[in-house]
Amino acid sequence: MCGIVAAVTTRDDIVSEVLTGLKTLEYRGYDSAGVAVPDQNQIHLRRRMGKISALEQELKDNALPKASSAVAHTRWATHGAPSDRNAHPHMDDAKEIVLVHNGIIENYAELRARLQADGHEFSSDTDTEVLVNLIAFHRRKNSIDLHQAVQLALKEVHGAYAIVVLSPLEPDTLIVARVDSPLVVGLSENGQFAASDMPALLHLTREFLILENGESAVLRPDVVTLFDADGNPTQRESFFCEWTPEQAEKGGYPHFMLKEIEEQPDVLARTAFDRFHDETGDVIFEPAFAFSEDDLIGLERIRFMAMGTSFHSALLGQQMMAELAAVPGTTLNASEFLYSPKLDEANTLTVILSQSGETADSLRAMREVQSRGGRILGICNVQGSTLAREADGLVLTHCGPEVGVASTKAFFGQLTALYLLAIHIGRARGHLSSKQGRDLLHDLRALRPKLDGLFHAETQACVKAAADYLAGVSSCLFLGRGFQFPIALEGALKLKEISYIHAEGYPAGEMKHGPIALIAEDFPVIAIATPGRTYQKMLSNMEEVRARKGKVIAVGVHGDTQVQAQADFFLPVPDVPELLAPMVNVIPLQQLSYQVALKLGRDIDQPRNLAKSVTVE
Ligand code: M6R
Repeated sequence: MCGIVAAVTTRDDIVSEVLTGLKTLEYRGYDSAGVAVPDQNQIHLRRRMGKISALEQELKDNALPKASSAVAHTRWATHGAPSDRNAHPHMDDAKEIVLVHNGIIENYAELRARLQADGHEFSSDTDTEVLVNLIAFHRRKNSIDLHQAVQLALKEVHGAYAIVVLSPLEPDTLIVARVDSPLVVGLSENGQFAASDMPALLHLTREFLILENGESAVLRPDVVTLFDADGNPTQRESFFCEWTPEQAEKGGYPHFMLKEIEEQPDVLARTAFDRFHDETGDVIFEPAFAFSEDDLIGLERIRFMAMGTSFHSALLGQQMMAELAAVPGTTLNASEFLYSPKLDEANTLTVILSQSGETADSLRAMREVQSRGGRILGICNVQGSTLAREADGLVLTHCGPEVGVASTKAFFGQLTALYLLAIHIGRARGHLSSKQGRDLLHDLRALRPKLDGLFHAETQACVKAAADYLAGVSSCLFLGRGFQFPIALEGALKLKEISYIHAEGYPAGEMKHGPIALIAEDFPVIAIATPGRTYQKMLSNMEEVRARKGKVIAVGVHGDTQVQAQADFFLPVPDVPELLAPMVNVIPLQQLSYQVALKLGRDIDQPRNLAKSVTVE
């Protein structure tokens, strides 16, 4: 977590540009923020507890000198409580070197004790201040340059990090390095930049270079020199980022979450419509997919892994794969995989889903599968992310940057990609005929116009009425069956993370086995009751809730009088094929959470305690 932006340029006004970038990273952490610039032989530092707006106020009261280079940081606390003194950047005790850091230095206590014995003094509780003093120690002791000192220091460090180092001792230079935490380098004619992700730099450049694990680089205004994990100079082609600066902005919406919910119809078109053949019923993935027809024919099982919202997509992926490709599968929280027995990976494909491609638990699981001899297909939204680079095959979801901490359009993009994947594998294995493939893909194309109604004023009025009621309860249950069970889980996650109302998702059949004890006048159920094989059973579950005086908010298709009769609040959705219903049904649940959080005055895009990319295990 934590966000980093840094620049070394030929301009003299870089601080405001760096702060613009930092604001796009606030989703990564928002308990304190800071910025540092060099001036003559000094480092000027401003840091404030709280959001970046607090830092901006500090900069108004206490301006920094004009600068051509800067490092900036927004923090999600790991070591040391949120406070001004624990905020980044951190300097060594001689105030010669300044560092911003994302990640965790696991052996910081031992290093700190050693440096203290050597006379170093510390003014914060952070692992970061230990690292910057270690760099200073090596530079002085060995009379070496800053890059060499960084390399020596990092050899002693265990843990995950992305760092940027700046010092007036070596003007117009930034040293960057990473292990297991993301860092991108942006290239331009006027200077070079580093950041935790690409959207933070899109206002400055669209040309990028990604640091691989263990690599470091020296950035100067006119050149970037890359070093491999052994410290030898190396080279890599840069690439052009397909995202535009506008996609990373709110575009007039009050919150990114609302903008991202409303972008979902376009996500469908961007992720799917260029990837299939209407006539033959075939899905055509890009060469990065990398799995041949023979690979797919030989599959005996598919394992899905992910965390959070992506885990809910994974559950649906398993169901789609069984339905459309007849391949059995399992789904695991990626964080649980390390402890699983080492089974034979032959004829097994592991699909890892991640919006960011940087979730530490998911990356760790990927590497563990690979070390056991298995192969990974990554489904990911971020070009150049660690998952995108290290997976054996890749399907990108073309959602555009997702900034709201609560994932919405990325989930939708993942379901779209999983549907295509299941058809592709089903066709390759002969489980689906060309006509079946064509019909399924036709259904997907036909979904696009049907989504529009979900954003109309009448539908929104229904969502708002339900939200007004739900904002007054302290706990609730989301119920779904079959394909709608993962949607119940996702609805509950959305509600709890942005409104802080306790919510649990359950397979509706479980209700009678315990949770029914909770049902009461002030304990509502949100039931997903769209047509399909589970419809009748859902109607019975709603009756059971109402018989115990529980209120029901139901998602059902327009004009469904049976569902309406069982519901206190009705969220209408279009009638679509059962396999596509999850993509439709999740949208009113996202809108419901949004409206509840809005009514409760919550910080919707940056809910408490969370960060967008969870880059620590
Ligand atoms: O980037 P990823 O998809 O790997 O992120 C996984 C989860 O951290 C993420 O989905 C998280 O649960 C969101 N806050 C959900 O809205």
